[in-house]
Amino acid sequence: MEIALKMSGIKKSFNGVPVLKGIDLEIRKGEIHALLGENGAGKSTLMNILGGILQPDQGSIELFGNKVSIPNPHTSKQFGIGFIHQELNLVSDLTIYENLFLGKERTNALGFLEKKKMVQETSKVLDLLDVHLHPRKLIFELDVSMKQIVEIARSLLQDSKIIIMDEPTTSLTDKEITKLFKVMRNLKESGYSIIFISHKLKEVLSICDRYTVLRDGELASSGDIRDVTEEILAKYMIGKELSSTEQYVTREIGDILLEVKNLSAHHSFYNIQFSLRKGEILGFTGLSGDGRTELFETIFGFRTGYFGDIIVKGKKVKVKHPTSAVSNGIGFVPKNRKENGIVKDLSVLQNMTLSSLKKFTEPLIVNQKKEEQTYQVYQQQLNIKAVDIHSSIANLSGGNQQKVILAKWLVADTEVIILDNPTQGVDIGARNDIYELIVENARKGKSFIILSSDFGEIRRICDRIYVMFQGKITAELKREEASDETLMIYATGAKIKEVSKK
Ligand SMILES: Nc1ncnc2c1ncn2[C@@H]1O[C@H](COP(=O)(O)OP(=O)(O)OP(=O)(O)O)[C@@H](O)[C@H]1O
Ligand SMILES: [Mg+2]
Repeated sequence: MEIALKMSGIKKSFNGVPVLKGIDLEIRKGEIHALLGENGAGKSTLMNILGGILQPDQGSIELFGNKVSIPNPHTSKQFGIGFIHQELNLVSDLTIYENLFLGKERTNALGFLEKKKMVQETSKVLDLLDVHLHPRKLIFELDVSMKQIVEIARSLLQDSKIIIMDEPTTSLTDKEITKLFKVMRNLKESGYSIIFISHKLKEVLSICDRYTVLRDGELASSGDIRDVTEEILAKYMIGKELSSTEQYVTREIGDILLEVKNLSAHHSFYNIQFSLRKGEILGFTGLSGDGRTELFETIFGFRTGYFGDIIVKGKKVKVKHPTSAVSNGIGFVPKNRKENGIVKDLSVLQNMTLSSLKKFTEPLIVNQKKEEQTYQVYQQQLNIKAVDIHSSIANLSGGNQQKVILAKWLVADTEVIILDNPTQGVDIGARNDIYELIVENARKGKSFIILSSDFGEIRRICDRIYVMFQGKITAELKREEASDETLMIYATGAKIKEVSKK
């Protein structure tokens, strides 16, 4: 087997704190290689070195047997490394082919754009990926998996041999994941190598050939996927057996806290009715485009314009802006962390206390000591890894940012917390910590609404579940009723159940 990439003894520190402590990584030609590890283990840092975004302090890189140095992203691209970041870099109102040739448009001798040629070349790469998309289709018409596939197509057009995919599936639905995996298999068969970063171990087992696990910046294990199980991989990642997953325990549930009646918004959702009780964990699930995100962005005030009633503790409220939702006791962890969740210019600590500054403000000054003490509590509960809590939250690994945003709303102590895709990019151990924290807070009387396409996640913690399809609620289910099959029937709109009008 030809070796496509060999990274040896890679070391990297930030502000004197070692993050990579001598990592070896070997990628073969034509394989899908999983790069695994807990949040903050060093996966993205290692890939940023390969992508020329960061420079290693020590170590060497060989590509197809030749020693190279990668001083910048441009060089990395020239060496045939394609980097597909989680935040996709496409221009929504341009077509597929225009995005593929952005900045390197083909022109003829007279300087005119050779549109036909660019369209043809785009078709050729899309054919190679075996997807049937028209090159003139606009990006905003595509679902997230197709956008990801367009990014892959772009890196193929740039002649990539090795494609890095940093958590490509966190915001994809099962159906979209299937599409993406089909493309990945086609690529592999054509001799491309893929480095696949994911926290979803089931996916890793189904799509990858080999794996490398990092733990605290060190190489924990590497080998063939067929020799391992989910449990074994999890053990390599966290260095010990994963504590057995807690079973659902019934809790006492109180009076109705939040009620929504006949709520509609143009082109988003229609006639929504539901109620949430004190101490309840309510699930909203469905496939992508089901309208649940739009629904709760409206209830939180991120989106304006709705018909119908939002009732908090028996009183009709008008939500126009997130501040009105917060003053009604509603908090919200959005699904698009990078765009809506974090404030990059603020520190880890400031992000965590952002929604509850009053608690930490004494006349004129912010009580930093109090902030730090609060941070310590959640740092322990959620195992947050941060090199420096006074530096920008952007320096935290993806999963750790997610934990800070979750902590922000627990600190704010709102009665209702809406969580959209709460465990996106969170490692398997921390995921359990998050579930436990939610359940523990529900036991204390906080109410949660969980939005997720992950049926297992919904079943694991929710007391009651609403399923949506194309902007409408198609079923209200008790958790015992919510098997994968049943959820799928309502999520695809194959059946609609009468929803009780309490
Ligand atoms: N620019 C930076 N400045 C300071 N620390 C950083 C910087 N970039 C990364 N780190 C730290 O390096 C460590 C490794 O981060 P990295 O992003 O590589 O983790 P990861 O394995 O990708 O985690 P995740 O699964 O959460 O994405 C983290 O502790 C992170 O806070
Ligand atoms: Mg990462």
